[in-house]
Parts: sequence; structure tokens; C-alpha cells
Amino acid sequence: MSTSAEPINLFEFEVAAKERLPKEEYDYIAGGATDEISVERNRRAFESWALRPRVLRDVSALDLSTTVLGTKVNLPVLIAPCGGHKRAHPDGEFATYRAAAAAGTIMAVSANASSSFEELAGAAAGHLWVQLYPFRDRELTKDWLARAKEAGCEAVCVTLDSQWPPKRERNIRNKYRRTRGINYPMPSAERANAPRPGGSAGEGADPAATWKDLEWIKSATDLPVVAKGIMTGEDVESCAAAGADAVIVSNHGGRHLDNTLATIEVLTEAVDAAKGKMEILLDGGIRRGADVVKAIALGAKAVFIGRPLFWGLAVGGERGVARVLEILREEIEITMAKCGRPTIASIDSTVVVKAPRL
Ligand SMILES: Cc1cc2nc3c(=O)[nH]c(=O)nc-3n(C[C@H](O)[C@H](O)[C@H](O)COP(=O)(O)O)c2cc1C
Repeated sequence: MSTSAEPINLFEFEVAAKERLPKEEYDYIAGGATDEISVERNRRAFESWALRPRVLRDVSALDLSTTVLGTKVNLPVLIAPCGGHKRAHPDGEFATYRAAAAAGTIMAVSANASSSFEELAGAAAGHLWVQLYPFRDRELTKDWLARAKEAGCEAVCVTLDSQWPPKRERNIRNKYRRTRGINYPMPSAERANAPRPGGSAGEGADPAATWKDLEWIKSATDLPVVAKGIMTGEDVESCAAAGADAVIVSNHGGRHLDNTLATIEVLTEAVDAAKGKMEILLDGGIRRGADVVKAIALGAKAVFIGRPLFWGLAVGGERGVARVLEILREEIEITMAKCGRPTIASIDSTVVVKAPRL
């Protein structure tokens, strides 16, 4: 990472990454579905909640640690499952995982990772989750779940919003071809059927999947099951009924269906629907420490970052991702201190107030 013009926030990381990455790779990472309205809305919606500063509440010793599904994390920011980290740096997922482990947080390894989760598991003493889709092939799923358990992964994240391929116009224009995730030992018949128009559907994700498939995944593993890609209270209730242990409120960073609400806008609905039975997590547009605090104030147990990890990788590999996490930590600390909340547990709904963007 060059010291002369080190990025000082995640937006500057994106600018620096854009200069370094081939255009089609930058576009693949940064882009979203059709008009990218949801990509932008994820960000802008954070501006519709204002912080309520509080003073004289002894914030001399801040503690940013919390638990996610019983695992202690030192930072309430986790690494979202994102395919192919090697597109941004040759060390790929290894660099990201080492940075996440050093920061004391969890990394979810994508089904489309450019490194095997078994190899990754040995690369650092951290916490790994593994992501999959409701695949057509249950043998593949069973194998995936068994491998995840064997490798020491602590939860499985089932991505539910990718059953149908999206329309990503930047990729169409760039004639972008995504490389296959390394973790698929896909039988040839499955491979032939796998929907990959535009190279961007959840590989092997079954368009015919229903809640029965999530129930079956839950019954096929003793690892906690995290349902990702949920945007309504109704679907949160269905996740609970299917036995999910946690839900990630996510619109896939605006990469699948455009014109949705922002994730932060549906968080309260999701939290209410969970009725305290499942942990609610959130991703989408987290770029500032204040965003993290707002999400926690509105009921998220923790949040994830997606694109910023690629910006960190592109700028400085492991050190770049570490810096991205460090910047978020510093900004969360400032926000917590100035809102008079020394611990994550003390961040409640009175930290924020809904305020229309001026
Ligand atoms: C390049 C890229 C690849 C992604 N690949 C996956 C994936 O394989 N599985 C998945 O569940 N989500 C995937 N996502 C979505 C992220 O997990 C996450 O939902 C999203 O990036 C969060 O929004 P943010 O990028 O604004 O932080 C991907 C996102 C990006 C940017």
C-alpha cells in the first residue's frame, strides 16, 4: 500500500482500487442489477437516520466486542460471502481471512470462492462460515455441509436470493466471464444444467427451491444455519419456521433485484418478525462506522461488508483489508463515544432518530 496517498476512508479505498483494477473487474465488483437504484439506495438510506449524541456517560473504555451465534467477535463487522477474491489480489481469500482473523471477526467464504475452504481453514486461527445455495443436487449439498463441518467452519450461510440470474448491464457491456468457484466438485450433469446466463447466477442454485429445501438443509447439518438475502417480515417468519438460526437482511448489495428498499429500511420489519427467536444481521452499503452503529441501534446483531473487502485487497492485499476493518473500527469508536455508548449492548434504539434527508 503506498504511504503517500493512503486512503483514509472506504470511499477513498474504492477510488484507489478503481485505479488499480481492470475495468471489467471493477465493474463486476462495484456494479448492481439494471439501473443500480438499490445499490445507491442502500447507501443513501443511512442518511435518513440521524444520531442522537449524549454526553457525560464515561466512555473512557470502549468495548466493541459482541457475539454472533455464540461466537465472540471483537468487531461487529463481518466479511460477507463474496465470490473470487483473487480477482482483486493474487492472495485472494487467504489475505482476507488473515485480516479478518487478526481483527477478531468472522469471514463467510463464498460458494464461488477462488480458494478451497479446507485450505483457508488452515491459514489462520479465525472463524469461518461457509456459504452455499439451495443446490439442485442434494448429494452435492450433503458433501458441502460435511466438508464445512470437517474443515471447522462454524456456520453455514444459505443464500436465498440468487435462484434466478440477475441482469447486470455493466457485465453484459464488458462481455464479462466469471470464473468457476473452486469448491464445486460438480457432477457433469449438474454442471450442464447450472444456470449461468451472464455468468452471474448462484451457480447450481435451484430455481425450483422452496422453504422445504431450507428445512432440509437445516436437518442435514448440526451447524447453525444462517439464511441470507431476506427483505421482508414474511420471509423472516418463514426462515424461523424452517429452523434458521439467523437471518441476514440483504438485497445482495443491489446485485440481484433492483428497485428494492434499502436493507436498513427493512431492518425494523425483520427484527419485529423475528420476535427474538433468531439473530438478525444486515449487509448492504455499510461504508462508515456510523452506518454500523445505526444498524445495531435498529436491532442488527452485527453487519457485513462486501465490496469494501475487494477495495482493500486491490489496494494492499491483507494489509489493505486490515486497514479497511481498522478504519471502520476507528469510526465506530468515535460514534459510540460521542453517543455515550461504551459497549455494543448499550447501543439501543434511542441512539437514532428517523430524519428525512434534507
Ligand atoms: C463481487 C461480489 C461477489 C459476491 N458474491 C457473493 C456470493 O458468492 N454469495 C453471496 O451470498 N453473496 C455474494 N455477494 C453479496 C455479498 O455477500 C453482500 O450481500 C453484498 O456485497 C453487501 O453489500 P455491500 O457490497 O454494499 O457491502 C457478492 C458481492 C460482491 C460485491
